Amino acid sequence: MIEIAIDGTAASGKGTLAKKLAKKYGFIHLDTGLLYRKVANELIIKKKDNSTNLEYYSFEVAKNLNFLKLKKEDLRSEKTAKLASLIATYPKLREVLNSIQKEFVNNNKSKFPGCVLDGRDIGTKILPNANFKFFIDASIDIRAKRRLLEKNISFLHENDEKCMLQSLIREMKERDMLDSSRTTSPLVPASDAHLIDTSYMNADELLLKVTKIIEGN
Ligand code: CDP
Repeated sequence: MIEIAIDGTAASGKGTLAKKLAKKYGFIHLDTGLLYRKVANELIIKKKDNSTNLEYYSFEVAKNLNFLKLKKEDLRSEKTAKLASLIATYPKLREVLNSIQKEFVNNNKSKFPGCVLDGRDIGTKILPNANFKFFIDASIDIRAKRRLLEKNISFLHENDEKCMLQSLIREMKERDMLDSSRTTSPLVPASDAHLIDTSYMNADELLLKVTKIIEGN
C-alpha cells in the first residue's frame, strides 16, 4: 500500500490536498484532526471540558468513543479546535488515537492501493515510512482568511469581518504554538518531508505541485 503523509498548520490547505489526492488516486483518506476534535466535542457535550481532571476524562472518553461516523461539519468550531489542541498534549490520549489511526491503515491495506492521512504527526509518528511526506504551511493572515471563508458567514458590516479575522488569527496562533511546542509528537516537519508554502497557491496549484513530486515529473 502506498502511504502519503501530510502534516501542517491549521488552514494551510493540507485537508483539501489530502482529499484531492485520495480522489485522484483512488486512495482511502483519514483526516486525523477529526479524531481529536471528536474527543474534544464529546468532553464539551459531557460538560467535562473545564474539569481539573481533563487528562483522565479525555482518555476515558476516547477509549469508549465510536469514531466510525466522523462528520467535519459537526466538529468545525474553534472552541472544539482549541480543546482538541489542549488534549492533544496528553500522551495517553495520543496512544489511544494513534492505535485507531494505525488500525485504520491496516484494515484498509487489502481494500485500497494507497492511503492519505493528514494531521500533525503523520510523517513523524503514524506513518514514519510513508512513501511521500509533505509539510504544508502558509502565512497566518492568509490561513485566517481561508478559515473565515470556510465558515461561509455573510457579514453585515466590514468591522464584524475585521473583528472575526483578528480573533481567528489570535486563536490559530495560540493553537499553532501549543501544537509545535508540546513534548509528545509536536507539529514539526519530518526530516524527509517536502516543505510547501501555500500562501500564494490555490488548491489546484498545490495538487499539481504535489502530483508532480509523486509522479517524479
Ligand atoms: O483543521 P485544522 O488544521 O485547524 O485542525 P485539525 O487538523 O482538525 O486538528 C485539530 C487539533 O488536533 C490540532 O490543533 C492538533 O492539536 C490536534 N491534532 C494532533 O495533535 N495530531 C494530529 N495528527 C491531528 C490533529
